[in-house]
Amino acid sequence: MNKHDSERVCGILENLGSRWVDSYEEADIVIFMTCCVREAADTRLMGQVASMKNLSLRADSPFKKRLIAVGGCIGQRDGEKLTEELAHIDIVFGTHNIASLPQLLMTALDDGLHHVEVLDAAAGFSTDLPIARVNDWAAWLPITVGCNNFCSYCIVPYVRGREKSRPLEEIVGEAAGYVESGVKEITLLGQNVNSYGRDLYGTPRFADVLKELDATGIARLRFATSHPKDLTDEVIEAFGNLKSLMPALHLPIQSGSDKILTAMNRNYTQAHYVSLIEKLRRTCPDIALSTDIIVGFPGETEADFEETCKVISEVGYTQVFTFIYSKREGTPAAKLHDDTPAEVIQERFDRLVGLVQENAWKQNQKDTGKLVEVLVEGASKRDAQLLAGKSPKNQTVHAKIPADTTLDELLGKFVTVKIEEAKTWYLKGRIIS
Ligand code: 5AD
Ligand code: SF4
Repeated sequence: MNKHDSERVCGILENLGSRWVDSYEEADIVIFMTCCVREAADTRLMGQVASMKNLSLRADSPFKKRLIAVGGCIGQRDGEKLTEELAHIDIVFGTHNIASLPQLLMTALDDGLHHVEVLDAAAGFSTDLPIARVNDWAAWLPITVGCNNFCSYCIVPYVRGREKSRPLEEIVGEAAGYVESGVKEITLLGQNVNSYGRDLYGTPRFADVLKELDATGIARLRFATSHPKDLTDEVIEAFGNLKSLMPALHLPIQSGSDKILTAMNRNYTQAHYVSLIEKLRRTCPDIALSTDIIVGFPGETEADFEETCKVISEVGYTQVFTFIYSKREGTPAAKLHDDTPAEVIQERFDRLVGLVQENAWKQNQKDTGKLVEVLVEGASKRDAQLLAGKSPKNQTVHAKIPADTTLDELLGKFVTVKIEEAKTWYLKGRIIS
């Protein structure tokens, strides 16, 4: 969501006549788009903004001083406090008012004063803002914003507000426009896409969104993120019925322990989660699954943690995003007492990472020898002669760029790759066609 918000901010800046530069030194305007889900992001932001203080402006800048803005979730949460702590921040804006950015920039440029605008809620679903997309072949498409779930550890409902769904016709219209302009892959976005439509007239369901988008002729459809308590049979069936829906699902479990899941206010049990996985595998046997895990939630015992490890091994994920619990002021979990020593949590975390890697490697091995359709996205970071792209299961695939073509010609196109080698985090193969 943050990346998509950033594309909108860039779209606004481009419309104002700005152009991209490669470094802070060359920039007249620097905008930090922030996240406050975990403390590390908070700390990093303050460090980065502080380091801008003594950075001189380029000699030929028409500006008197570099404009520094902080937007996104930290802007929403801290507002005025940010300019009090770091006086060289000129503008603070929140998650609901990206559209105000031109006005804020112009006034700050004019009067050299601080400008803080943080709204409590969105006036509507702001979809009429320009977007500077990072590439031509893939698009993010937000279908909901905000979240009503209030998981006890999570700050998101407080900084993104209550869930709002975007009208189905509008989503389909935007998708059809993307298809027409050559976009190959659309990723639907929302904090919990499965609860789409509950606030709309006629209560369209998420499965309807998938069906209608499949009918636009998009080649690849993905979505993030799903809450297990709201994953319906219709959505599970869509993995078997819809040609464009890629066989990959990110389904955060957070913990395998029912006691911790209750304390997290997640509203499902390990058994329910596993039953969803079984249904998904019956519908789409080769589906790639990924998840999020929080280690060290207050009160987590070794036995609770072992339940998490058990699920990880049973499900066989291709990717697991692992996080150490981070206390977020203002959330219900921040009030919970916790006496697990940090070293114990770190040791569990390290054990989990080992298990995740072992599982990911095992899952990828199953694809050696297979033919895989890959959407080319760029070059391998380590070897410019190798292309990098994504398989339907969202695995990174590397293959040698054929001598009779260039990477530029292949970008955003599909190639068929025969997988010859499977590593933990990527597959390697040879282009067949
Ligand atoms: N501490 C650690 N991880 C968190 N997440 C959300 N809030 C916290 C927190 N307070 C993780 C969850 C979520 C992912 C986006 O971030 O696993 O799914
Ligand atoms: Fe946070 Fe839970 Fe909402 Fe996800 S579903 S954004 S973890 S409150």
